[in-house]
Amino acid sequence: MKKIALVTGGAKGIGKAIVDELVSNDVVTVVLDARFDEPALIDGIEYIAVDVRDRDKIKAVIDGVVKKYGKIDIAINNAGIVRDRTLKNMTSEDWDDVIAVNLTGIFNVSKEIVPQMIAQKSGAIINLSSVIGKTGAIGQANYAAAKAGVIGFTKSCALELARHNICVNAVCPGFVDTDMTRGIPADIKEKIVSKIPVGRFATPQEIAKVVSFIALHNSYITGQSIDVNGGLFWQ
Ligand code: NAI
Repeated sequence: MKKIALVTGGAKGIGKAIVDELVSNDVVTVVLDARFDEPALIDGIEYIAVDVRDRDKIKAVIDGVVKKYGKIDIAINNAGIVRDRTLKNMTSEDWDDVIAVNLTGIFNVSKEIVPQMIAQKSGAIINLSSVIGKTGAIGQANYAAAKAGVIGFTKSCALELARHNICVNAVCPGFVDTDMTRGIPADIKEKIVSKIPVGRFATPQEIAKVVSFIALHNSYITGQSIDVNGGLFWQ
């Protein structure tokens, strides 16, 4: 029987690469993304319009997926946004939006999926954090707080769920070439790259391969925050 996966923010960037990787491994994949106006089926992938801040919609969608497929083996909490400003200039809205999508969004999805995974006595949950959740960054107090929160959330859930045969891990990418980083001015990008030992940004596929490995081939790694950052720790 094929595995069933749910990926938030899977319409583009790292999420899309994760979806492609899962599909190429024969996983039936459902995408929850705020980018869509209405549901779509493209190349066998089901896309559903969901904002991860909307608990009621998430519940309805997850109930629908379980009704249709009977289970959910894998949940990838990938949806994320940035609203970069130094604390001096950061608005309450910048703070609330980033926490709501990057952190509370993961709570919302996990809260609805975990009872199903406990009932089926198996599951893999992977939460996208970031190197910034470990190092902090100028202009990213909101994002760093959310991504550090993701690591704490992941570790706690892993402890609670290990006895139910559910592994919960965070993946912490460094800088990845997606729309999220394309707006970085060239001179700043050059400075960042000079600090990355590997000497370049990651491709979304490089992150996706690690995520899909943990999702599909892991039964003993749990509660970890796995760095995929080309050696970057702002040394
Ligand atoms: P992206 O901006 O290219 O794609 C994000 C996706 O999430 C989009 O499809 C968007 O529609 C969706 N999304 C945004 N808000 C949503 C919401 N409220 N509900 C549902 N879907 C929503 O971003 P990227 O770069 O692919 O990032 C993916 C994840 O990886 C994010 O959690 C991000 O914080 C994290 N990350 C990205 C890094 C990078 O350098 N690009 C580095 C470290 C972590």
